[in-house]
Amino acid sequence: MPLQVIVGAQWGDEGKGRIVDWFAGRADYSARYNGGDNAGHTVTVGKQIFKLHLIPSGIIHPQIVAVLGNGMVINPRTLFDEVETLKKAGVSAAPERMHISYAAHLITPAHQALDKALEAARGKGNIGTTGRGIGPAYTDKATRHGVRLADMLNPDFCERIGDHVADTNRTLKMLAAAELDPAAVCDEYRGYAERLKPYISDVSIELDAAIKAGRVILVEGAQGTLLDVDFGTYPFVTSSSTTAPGALTGLGLGLEAASDAQVIGVVKAFQTRVGSGPFPTEVSGDLALRLRGSGSNPWDEYGTTTGRPRRVGWLDGVLLRYAVRINGISELAVTKLDILSGLEIVRLCTTYKRDGKTLADLEFGPADLGPYEPVYEELPGWKEDVSGVRRWADLPPAAQAYLERLSGIAGVPIRLVSVGAEREQLVVKE
Ligand code: IMP
Repeated sequence: MPLQVIVGAQWGDEGKGRIVDWFAGRADYSARYNGGDNAGHTVTVGKQIFKLHLIPSGIIHPQIVAVLGNGMVINPRTLFDEVETLKKAGVSAAPERMHISYAAHLITPAHQALDKALEAARGKGNIGTTGRGIGPAYTDKATRHGVRLADMLNPDFCERIGDHVADTNRTLKMLAAAELDPAAVCDEYRGYAERLKPYISDVSIELDAAIKAGRVILVEGAQGTLLDVDFGTYPFVTSSSTTAPGALTGLGLGLEAASDAQVIGVVKAFQTRVGSGPFPTEVSGDLALRLRGSGSNPWDEYGTTTGRPRRVGWLDGVLLRYAVRINGISELAVTKLDILSGLEIVRLCTTYKRDGKTLADLEFGPADLGPYEPVYEELPGWKEDVSGVRRWADLPPAAQAYLERLSGIAGVPIRLVSVGAEREQLVVKE
């Protein structure tokens, strides 16, 4: 398939990075279409751990051209930190192999300050944002006050950035937050403009030509389905289109590109969420500690971007079916199966109960999950450590049964199962 779209089927942090890494070995382009440095994609290659926030994780493969689409919001400070980190690890993110859309929006320190001030003003009802300025940058985009990468190419760029900081200062003042110095931001961003110039292009033209030439474009969604601004647990969502259709508008691809697309949904073998908002299958106590891990391993359940402990729970099949429909998922990659080893029983939420009625699907999407009570199916657990397993047939029968049931609930087959953080700790189901 020329277009392969990898999306998170839950609240993000499904382990998309390592799944992208597997597909990227066979692709020509690795493209991101949404979000900014709120994302955190981890890929482990031997002793090297790559934690990427903005640059598509496929870049680790030498044949890949990385693309950052118009649907993204880009903090140039993070971008160049990442370019440097990759360089030290021997991975080039030079303009020859990384192209950024002229229509992507910039994130500035004013957006970050506003994000934090707005969260503080929300008090207890806060969203639990990453504080990276994502919401304010997309707000500026929608209200037509945004600053795009193309603006960096204009002689009046500094003035534009200065106006944007002065505008934001007015809101910061109303929120009793510290204001920023427009001249200082202007100076910093003038430097970034120089460095960014060779990266900026119309990536839509390049991707269109690549598809026509039969190249494989691996598209990497950030966050997850349930954080989508339209289809997620609104208002506890991020501000972009995280779902697969967002790949078209976020990269400048026409609908025809979708006719040849394959959508791979990445789903953790259980469920996690970072930040506020509903979570029907959430667990607490010892089981939560067990699923989350102590934080001593980089792949324990602590945010890659913020370090916050993630909330954890049983896999929610109702929400997974919803993700399959909204994204058009054709196959699943299940991650972190190894974490469930050793549990006496494993539970899967198959349906919800509301007012005594059993519901297989949500009535109005996942925004208001409060009144729904999860209905679980219990399956026997397995004691065996599965981290060394590389073939489906070698998985313990109970683990196979759990995965088969998960696939049955989702209504789509499983293609990959990850059993550890290392690149090769993967089971491919033929
Ligand atoms: P924002 O994207 O920083 O505005 O945060 C909005 C919500 O999305 C918060 O609940 C964040 O914790 C969550 N969020 C944003 N990015 C990610 C991610 O990459 N993984 C998981 N949650 C995320």
